[in-house]
Amino acid sequence: MKELIYANFKMNKTFSETKDYLKELDALLVDEPQKICLFLPYTSLYLSKLYKGEKFLFGAQNMFEEESGGYTGEISAPMLADLKVKTVMLGHSDRKKFGETNLQINKKIKTALRYGFEIVLCVGETRAQRNSGKTKIAIEKELGEILFGIYENELKNITIAYEPVWAVGTGKIADSKTISEAVKFIRSTINRLYSETAGKEIKIVYGGSITPQTAREIYKNKNINGVLVGGTSLNAVEFAKLIKA
Ligand code: 13P
Repeated sequence: MKELIYANFKMNKTFSETKDYLKELDALLVDEPQKICLFLPYTSLYLSKLYKGEKFLFGAQNMFEEESGGYTGEISAPMLADLKVKTVMLGHSDRKKFGETNLQINKKIKTALRYGFEIVLCVGETRAQRNSGKTKIAIEKELGEILFGIYENELKNITIAYEPVWAVGTGKIADSKTISEAVKFIRSTINRLYSETAGKEIKIVYGGSITPQTAREIYKNKNINGVLVGGTSLNAVEFAKLIKA
């Protein structure tokens, strides 16, 4: 499905570059009803307060679990809420490379829920886990630990992004069958952790080396609610093609 389209800029584009980019993308999408949520670097999130249109929403790529205090370099939920940011991405594999644990992501989710944020939660296996046949075990463990203590009625604020680590930023998109199987497995895990309804209703998007050419295949899958795009989203022309695919 083409219900949710997210872009993750990662550590790319200055505030000024992002303003120019938005003008360009807006012009390319004049007849396109689709809303797009862009996960921007913190330095560009003031745009969330400035922007008066309806097409774009702005999200943070991370957020700290505590609300204030001696946490130099971190960003809190009240800081984001004050900028009218409504969505936060948590648990991206880039963050895990800096040592972020499932327990910490779990705390971040609880804080984000208290502040009423929409959450995009990234999960996915590494290349080593896939090669050793441990994809399901890895995803099940991640979801079990990260969602510990989260109530079923809170899942409506959470979208799961299936991002196999080996497909992120590598140009090697997972094939349709691999994506489809993983998404089914995520639904069945939510089913086991919560209920059949929860497994059916949870929103799941795919992320990892998506291009305009591969996006269409993903939109066709009714089990997948949308996409989370990294590299391709940095070029307005290519991203507009992907959105219209
Ligand atoms: P790429 O599309 O560059 O592989 O990045 C995907 C991603 O990490 C989105 O969060």
